[in-house]
Parts: sequence; structure tokens; C-alpha cells
Amino acid sequence: MKYMEGTRHIPVLLQEAVDLLRVSPGATVVDATLGGGGHTRELLRRVLPGGRVIAFDADRDAIERFRERAQSDTMLKQALADGSLMLEHKNYASVGEALEQLGIGSVDAMLADLGFSSDQIEAGERGFSFLQSGPLDMRLDQETELTAEKIVNTFSPEDIERILREYGDERESRRIARAIGAAREEQPITTTDALRTIIEHAYPKSKRYRMKIHPATKTFQALRIAVNQEFERLDAFLAAAIERLKQGGRLAVITFHSGEDGLVKRRFKEQARGCVCPPEFPLCRCGRTPRIRILTKKPLLPSEQEIRDNPRSRSAKLRGIEKL
Ligand SMILES: C[S@@+](CC[C@H](N)C(=O)[O-])C[C@H]1O[C@@H](n2cnc3c(N)ncnc32)[C@H](O)[C@@H]1O
Repeated sequence: MKYMEGTRHIPVLLQEAVDLLRVSPGATVVDATLGGGGHTRELLRRVLPGGRVIAFDADRDAIERFRERAQSDTMLKQALADGSLMLEHKNYASVGEALEQLGIGSVDAMLADLGFSSDQIEAGERGFSFLQSGPLDMRLDQETELTAEKIVNTFSPEDIERILREYGDERESRRIARAIGAAREEQPITTTDALRTIIEHAYPKSKRYRMKIHPATKTFQALRIAVNQEFERLDAFLAAAIERLKQGGRLAVITFHSGEDGLVKRRFKEQARGCVCPPEFPLCRCGRTPRIRILTKKPLLPSEQEIRDNPRSRSAKLRGIEKL
């Protein structure tokens, strides 16, 4: 299997996701999350000849890096030149308007492989990882304003606590928020290293020794979600994606944490539900009919082999639907 060269990102659940979408030559497909381009390349291979892939990414660097690497890949170079592969530097929340602008009414399939690529996480200057020294940035799209530094230094400790609890499921959210509040009185918190150290000291020692993950993991995840409004944008994407699918068209979503997966599962269930009248009504009055069919009663998970080959895949879950 050929992945994209020049990227450290290994595509997750690649065959499973592309098989679920059941795309064939001539199809019009959206890859909402280009990243290193592994899924995009495989989708393109399956829709050619005659089809096209429109790939989105909110991170300009991801688009530019991919464009550069595509020059040494015959299929991608040709597809970029003849328009069967289009790259869009846009947030997937605006997929509806973006397709409108391109004059594309509806599509055969869409894929979203959520979160961040290894290229982004390993780029210290983006500030996504507590394992890399860098500024507390965490913006996916560097043209937006809110950064992790701004949240940590200007939001009230109560708001920081809420972010850590709601987006990170962090049990020590209050302690950490208080420690952040105290540390910033001394001097502004501007680097990933400084924040990591504050969290390490805030964590009760008795718990730290028993933890399987680093104490900063959940706080960094929560800040990243808040900076990029990930849940709001995912919600907007799911609504627009379902709207834009042709009848019989398919959507597949790969998530990496329970908050994201829960949201995808709930939205799919709502859209798959028909009548919502109370059971005592003899006849339906709401007139609701299902808009989609769920293809994955349980999410598809990576095989043990995939997890061994690519440990980053271990938390991945794939869900899919078909538009009715
Ligand atoms: C896990 S990576 C995708 C990897 C890709 N499927 C591959 O095979 O290399 C997720 C990508 O989605 C992008 N992304 C995350 N949230 C986004 C959003 N709201 N809109 C557009 N792109 C987004 C990130 O910048 C990142 O490049």
C-alpha cells in the first residue's frame, strides 16, 4: 500500500473507511480533512477516471505541504493539474457554502478523519503537544485569533476549570485551574513547557504515580478543543454533510476521543429516527421520516495489527451512514 511520502502521518482505518464509502469511478467525493493526504489519495485512486475529490483543511501548512509533495506523485500531480483533485483551505464547518461556491450541488461521499495529524503534533512551534517545547498556540488555522496562551492567561479560573472538565474530562480541573491562576500572577504562562510543569505540580502525587497517561494530557486536549471550537464545528459539519449528500450517498467519520464520538453517534441517531410522537398517539402527527440509515451499529475499530503498527490509531472509531 502506498501512503503519502514526506509526511509522518499514517492514515488510520484507511481501507475500512474508504470501503465503507463504496466510491467508484466517476464519483464526486469530499475529504473534509486532508492532513497528510493518505485518505485523499486512496479516494482519488478509486474515483478515477471521471471522478473528483475536493479536500479541505483548515491548516494552510497542511495544504501547502501536500501540494509540494504531490509534485513527485504522478497521479496526484496530474489530478491537481486537471482539476480532479481540488484543495480548499477552509474549515469543514463551512463545507456547504464552499461546495456552493464551487458550483457543486451534492456529492456521492464524504469523509472526516478528525483531530490532528502527526505532522502538526510533532511541529513544536504549533504548541499542540506537551512533549514538544513551543509557544502556547494550538490554533489549527493560524488566521484565527484565540490561542491557548490567551485562554490560560486571561480567562477566569472558573472558565478554565469548566473547559478542562467539559472538554478534557479532567477530574483535577479545579486544582489545575487554581494552579494556573496562581502561576500567572507571577508571570504570564507562554510556553508548553511552563504549562506542563504547572500541571505536574498541581496533580496530587498519590494519583500521579498510578496514572497511565501524563497528567497534562487531558488539559492539553481540552485547550485544543476550546481554541478550535472543535465540537461546534463538528456539529456544523455533520449537519451540512448530511444535507449535501446525494440520495444513497455515504458519510464516514473517524473520531479519536469519547466527546467527539458521542456527538457523532447522537447526531446520527437523531437523523436516523422517524416518528417522534409519544407512544400513546394512535397515529403519527409529527410527520418525521428518517433522513439517513446507520451503517455501523457499533463503530468499526482498528485491528490489533494496525494498533501495533501505528499506536496512534488505538483510540480511533469509525462510524458511517447512508442518506435515504
Ligand atoms: C487526522 S488528520 C487527517 C489525516 C488524513 N486523513 C491523512 O490520511 O493523512 C486531521 C486533519 O484535519 C484538519 N482539521 C481538523 N479540524 C478541521 C476543521 N474544523 N476544518 C478543516 N480541517 C480540519 C487538521 O488540520 C488535520 O490536518
